[in-house]
Parts: sequence; structure tokens; C-alpha cells
Amino acid sequence: MGEGTAGNIILTGFSYTGKTKVGQEVARRLGWSFVDIDEEIVRLWGKPIAEIFARDGESRFRELEREVLQRVCQEKEAVVSTGGGAIMNASNRELMMAGGVVICLEAKPATIYQRLLRDAEASDEQEVRPLLAGSDPLRRIEWLKGFRQPYYALSDWTVHTDNLTLEEAAEEVIRGWRYGGGKKRERIVLPSMADARESDAPYCEQQGAACVVTTATESYPVFVGWGFLDQLGKRMRNAGLQGRAHIVSDDRVFPLYGDRVKKILEEAGFAVDSMAVPQGERSKSFETAVSIYDWLVDRRAERGDSIVALGGGVVGDLAGFVAATFLRGLPLVQIPTSLVGMVDSAIGGKVGINHPEGKNLIGAFYQPRLVLADIQTLTTLLRRELVSGWAEVIKHAMIRDPRLLKLLEERSQELLKLEEQVTTEVVARSAAIKAGVVSEDEKELGIRIILNYGHTIAHGLEAATSYERFLHGEAVAIGMMGAAMISQQLGLLSQEVVQRQQALLQRFDLPTRCSDVDIERILRAMELDKKTGEEKVHWVLLAGVGQPVIRDDVPREVAVGVIRELLQS
Ligand SMILES: NC(=O)c1ccc[n+]([C@@H]2O[C@H](COP(=O)([O-])OP(=O)(O)OC[C@H]3O[C@@H](n4cnc5c(N)ncnc54)[C@H](O)[C@@H]3O)[C@@H](O)[C@H]2O)c1
Ligand SMILES: [Zn+2]
Repeated sequence: MGEGTAGNIILTGFSYTGKTKVGQEVARRLGWSFVDIDEEIVRLWGKPIAEIFARDGESRFRELEREVLQRVCQEKEAVVSTGGGAIMNASNRELMMAGGVVICLEAKPATIYQRLLRDAEASDEQEVRPLLAGSDPLRRIEWLKGFRQPYYALSDWTVHTDNLTLEEAAEEVIRGWRYGGGKKRERIVLPSMADARESDAPYCEQQGAACVVTTATESYPVFVGWGFLDQLGKRMRNAGLQGRAHIVSDDRVFPLYGDRVKKILEEAGFAVDSMAVPQGERSKSFETAVSIYDWLVDRRAERGDSIVALGGGVVGDLAGFVAATFLRGLPLVQIPTSLVGMVDSAIGGKVGINHPEGKNLIGAFYQPRLVLADIQTLTTLLRRELVSGWAEVIKHAMIRDPRLLKLLEERSQELLKLEEQVTTEVVARSAAIKAGVVSEDEKELGIRIILNYGHTIAHGLEAATSYERFLHGEAVAIGMMGAAMISQQLGLLSQEVVQRQQALLQRFDLPTRCSDVDIERILRAMELDKKTGEEKVHWVLLAGVGQPVIRDDVPREVAVGVIRELLQS
């Protein structure tokens, strides 16, 4: 075992993967002691876990968990079974990693569900277990597990228990302890999901929202559904908005949806007026912002009036910026109508305009009061714009969600046709990934950087072509190929995943290579032109699907070589 690795076996994994039973068996075989952290907590504090959660809150529970872990991890020769959520808390995770070899017990959601049902029958318990609550427990397990998967993946060793007996699983754990420990660990991004609020999990039925964004100061729902525009009035009222609604849109979207939105809001009791700016990136300018300020002044807009941004990312960023600044902030409602808007720009509170010298140079973090995405509006979006949006969805799958990746692979044809059910599911899931990441890191100080997967080269390509040739998603698609190829060359990622990503991008008609771009201009834009760059480039790479890795030590030759390869088509 390596230096500093204490001699314990720490078991992690979802509920019903056998942590307790397998752990006891391992302890018996090795002649070690067995500790179940949850049981320790109950014993020491004299209350059931559910009660600690209900009375004192999850954060208190995590504190207790940490105290126990800290103590236990200082021991030697203990098999420690941790609660399914322990590894998602950054400091708990550090304790676990330092305290021994971390071994994850895995099981497929269907297996977990079966074990859970069997157990519920056998134990004849009156209380409905939280996992069995709701109308579709299997789906809930899938979601919750998917959410935690990136953390489980940080373990030193993983044992798939689906087809193993207790004895076999114990043997595998011991094997993992022998082989899996001691190796130097990759620096994988370690976000804290201490607050992976299970009640906020996507598809949470009680609120009807696809997901909820929770920052230090705010919390707002993201609604995603087919025909959901009709709910806008009610949703705004529920968010406590009233008075006047100032719709800001563009001259392509407003003729399509403006009257309908106006009517819906009027019926909900809002006084409504509207303004449409010219469509396109050029409207993200200081001049256009000023024209909106002028209009609001003219309309005598007051604090408490809402700004309703109806359109793609341009309108969302622009109207959001005006909302953030006018009268020191008016409530903002985002109604994204482009795919980019729905899964990316409308969520997370980055608002802003461009400066002639650079994109998005002027802006703020300003969270909306709610986001409402009506999937049906995508039916009028130009195909090229739609395709460009799929690149960000694929990005979310690659960095965070193997299951979403599978869904995209299997249902691409239906998705390209915007088939109602699957499109809604995929957009909701993708939006939830963005919501999850920004909830952890509102101001882009840490984990939010993983959303930049594919974007380092994309920005180079966009700048080198004066933002005229590529739509953003097209550049991101090529950039993701670059990032994947670099990952592969550094030995992080298998060829298979690189090819899988390429095939998926192609299935969505996205480019994976390009020609006729001046490589010197790309390198200059990426600051890779100098041999000894002072500013290190922070690359978002992949160590597998759902396993982003940040590296600032990618050799310049590797990056340049890959970019050259991308340009040979
Ligand atoms: N704030 C963020 O976090 C963030 C994230 C990603 C992108 N962005 C910004 O978003 C912008 C790109 O967003 P976008 O791709 O939505 O661009 P966009 O707003 O320009 O929309 C693309 C085109 O589609 C049209 N359109 C939008 N919805 C439509 C619909 N339902 N039917 C018909 N036409 C429709 C628009 O009028 C426009 O012509 C960029 O300015 C980018 O900087 C911001
Ligand atoms: Zn992007």
C-alpha cells in the first residue's frame, strides 16, 4: 500500500449494493473490525437517521457523519461501510480517501429496485422507504444514482455486485484492496455535492419543475415541457411576481410567440408591454441595451415590474443584463425558445453584452426568478440552430451523465424530429445537469469550469473565423473532438470513447473536423502561439464518460498536434 494510505477498507456505493453485509463478510475473513457509519451515528446520538434529517437537517447529519468518519479513519484494519451520500461531500471524501482504500459496490438500478422490494416485503415495515416513494421508484433510483455516479467513480476500485454471491463480492473487495490501493490518484475534479438535494432531483413531482437552481442566495425552478407556455402566467404568480411584465424579444421570435405570451400574461392579471430587438448576436450590444433602458424609462417601469426574456441566448443575455442593472435590478423571467437557451444560457444567471473587442466582456451574475422552456417552440427553430444546440446537450452527457449519452445514442432520430416525449426528457435532463453544476458553483470559481469541455478549442476556432463561419455549437463539437483526442493521447481516455463521441456528434449532423482555418490564428486566440506561455491553459479533459479532469499541464506539442489533426479533413 502506498504512503499515507491508512490500512482500512472504506466501502461506498448506493443503497442496497450490499455495503453492510459484504463489509461484515470482508471483516470476518480478514479478521478486522467492521464499522457501519450510519449505525455509529444512530448509536452515538440516540436518534434514527431519518429523525436527524427531519429535525436537524442534512447538513447536521453530514457533520455527524464527518465526526464519525474522522475517528474511524484513524483506526487501522477496519472495514468501514459509509452511507450512500457520504462520498459526495468534499471533506468526507477527503477523509475517506486518506483513511484507506475506497471501494465502491455497484449494482444496476433494476437490481437495486428488486433488492429493495424484496427487503420491504420481508421486513414488513409500515413506513414507506424514501426510495420507494413517488410514482416511479425505479426512475427515481436511476436518477439519484446517476447524480451520484461521478462521485462513486472516484473510488479506487469498483465491484459490480449484480451477479455475485455475498462470498464472491467479499472476495472481489479483498482483491480490490490488494490491487486498487496505493496507486497515485488522478486529479479528478472534486466538486462538493454536499447538497445534492434529493428533493430537488429532476422530475421532482411536487413542484412540477424539471430541476431547481439553488445558489447561496437564491433558488428558482426550471420548468421544461411541451406546450408549457400556457402555464407562464400561473408560474409567474407562484413565483410572487405581479404588476407589469415587460417582454423583451427579437424580431424573429416575437412574431411567432409574442401575441400568445402577451395574452397568457394578461389573462393572469399582468399589465403587459413588449419590445423586439433585431435578431442575432449584434443585438448583444451596448446600443441595444440602451434602447431597452430608454423604452423602460419611457414606460415608467418600476421596481417590482418583471422583465420577461422571450427568445434565444441573445435575448436572454441582453434582457438579463438590462434586468440586472435597471433600477438596480428588476425580477427576471427567462423563456428560452432556442435549444441553447433551454439547456444552457437561460440557466445559471450569466447575463451580459459584447464589447467590440470581445464577446461577453460586460456582464453580471444575475439569477432569474424562474425559467420556463416550452419544448414545442423548438419546432420553429432553424435546423442549423437546433443542431448547434445538440452539441451542448452532448457535452452535458459526456461530462456528467452516461445514461443521457445512451439515450442520445439510441433515440437520435426521434430527437432530431423533436418527438415530444423523448425530447422533453432529454432537454429536462440536460437542463438539470447545467442547473446542478451552477448550483454548486454559481460564480464559476470551481466545478463550473467542466462546462467548458470542448470550449477551449471552440473559442479558438470562433475567434479565428471572426465569429462568422461557425455557430457556437458547431465549434464546440469540433472542440470536444479535440479535447477527447488530447485526453486519449495523455492516456486518460480510451479510443472507444473518442469514437463513441465522434459517432454521436455525426449522428446529430455536427462537424467533427474542419478545413480552411488558419492555424496560426487559432493558436493566437488560444494563446498557444508562444512557446512558453505564461498563462497556463486549463483544459477540461475526460477520463471517461462523466469523468471530467482539469489539466493545466497538457504539453503544447500535444495540443497543437491535435488541432492540426482536426484541420485535416
Ligand atoms: N449566459 C450564458 O450562460 C450563455 C451560455 C451559452 C450561450 N450564451 C449566449 O447565447 C447566445 C447564443 O444563443 P442562441 O444560440 O439561442 O442564439 P440566438 O438567441 O441568436 O438565437 C438563434 C436564432 O434563432 C432564432 N430563434 C430563437 N428561438 C426561436 C424559435 N423558437 N423559433 C424560431 N427562431 C428562433 C433567433 O431569433 C436567432 O435568429 C450567444 O450570444 C452566447 O454568448 C450565453
Ligand atoms: Zn457553449
